[in-house]
Amino acid sequence: EQPGAAPGGCPRTGAGGPVPPLFSRQFATDPYPAYAWLREHAPVHRTVLPSGVEAWLVTRYADARQALADQRLSKNPAHHDEPAHARGRTGIPGERKAELMTHLLNIDPPDHTRLRRLVSKAFTPRRVAAFEPRVQELTDRLIDGFAARGEADLIHEFAFPLPIYAICDMLGVPREDQDDFRDWAGMMIRHGGGPRGGVARSVKKMRGYLAELIHRKRAELGEGGGDDLLSGLIAASDHGEHLTENEAAAMAFILLFAGFETTVNLIGNGVHALLRHPEQRALLQASLAAGESGLLETGVEELLRYDGPVELATWRFATEPLTLGGQSVGVGDPVLVVLAAADRDPARFDAPDTLDLTRRDNQHLGYGHGIHYCLGAPLARLEGQTALATLLTRLPDLRDAGDPGDLRWRGGLIMRGLRTLPVEFTPES
Ligand code: HEM
Repeated sequence: EQPGAAPGGCPRTGAGGPVPPLFSRQFATDPYPAYAWLREHAPVHRTVLPSGVEAWLVTRYADARQALADQRLSKNPAHHDEPAHARGRTGIPGERKAELMTHLLNIDPPDHTRLRRLVSKAFTPRRVAAFEPRVQELTDRLIDGFAARGEADLIHEFAFPLPIYAICDMLGVPREDQDDFRDWAGMMIRHGGGPRGGVARSVKKMRGYLAELIHRKRAELGEGGGDDLLSGLIAASDHGEHLTENEAAAMAFILLFAGFETTVNLIGNGVHALLRHPEQRALLQASLAAGESGLLETGVEELLRYDGPVELATWRFATEPLTLGGQSVGVGDPVLVVLAAADRDPARFDAPDTLDLTRRDNQHLGYGHGIHYCLGAPLARLEGQTALATLLTRLPDLRDAGDPGDLRWRGGLIMRGLRTLPVEFTPES
């Protein structure tokens, strides 16, 4: 048995010394040294999460890739072996029965196959590509809001609003209602998506709003309908089958949520990493000034690998006993694949702790792998590339304001991102 991987999550001293503290404040700031330790000494490690739930952490690239594609690991929280009375207090989304929670990230085949096929008919690469001018316009409008000031908080004024307006627009949420979405989403992000209080009220409001919007869009379909994504979702059919209104609402909800905080963090973590690597940033700025897009494309992939938005993939539960990285995983055990650790695995990436925007052989796991691979990756790439290119072009001397040591990371389990990112720059005249 590996050192440090005693059943029950009790840290043990072994060849590599004691397990480094996980989920501390220091860990939130820089989890990578602890992940390096786990990869080497306890690559499939059972631990107690801050919520009290025990789960396996998978940190090596090869194991992570295998686990993400392993159909014996279910996404359905009903397979979790926690006693029923503990449900809803574990922080596992979907454990409380809610209509909006029957979505792609909480279901397995054959339901997953059917829903994913239907949504893929509406969420097409063509629809995303056609959206490019709108993402550029949104990006410029947000930068206009602070460019003359010479300083800004890039999370609140830029990274946060951009994806919410983008996905609302794409879904076909009327502009006058989008600020409500911004408020509801802000509430959910600030409170980590927990099930109680203001968050529950926000989810309820959003559910009510979506139900009504879907109803309206369905009625409009008879008259030709809109060409927005929600209308596309309602109209999509597969062998004569359509989404039910509940399924459409759950789909809209997961598109909003899977596509929101992730993109905030892609922009936030990406800018943060570039400001800390002046030579890489200079390379990217030179390439943008020359009108090239190649380095921007490989660069955004590298930023996803180096410090991606999704630190741990979403929950999986063993439906039968299995062996993972030499460890026996029992039925009902939660398994968390640590994408951030896998993407720094020296067995897969040369110089994994080096940010290299030119990196070519870069099959990172930042968007996951297998049947749950990120549906929104084309939109995320479009938003990430547009945001970074426009920021660095319009505000070429962008720099940290204040002490970078004061930066605070959000303490969520799945996502990795900054609370604020104060910057300064020469004001645009
Ligand atoms: C799934 C990452 C943006 C929609 C996933 C997964 C990851 C991921 C890692 C798989 C989770 C798992 O297997 O447990 C990201 C990152 C993004 C991003 C890093 C931004 C940089 C988006 C956007 C959208 C989106 C913009 C939609 C508008 C989805 C959906 C799924 C998903 C619907 C579930 C797919 C399924 O279960 O079949 N994403 N995502 N994502 N993502 Fe993204």
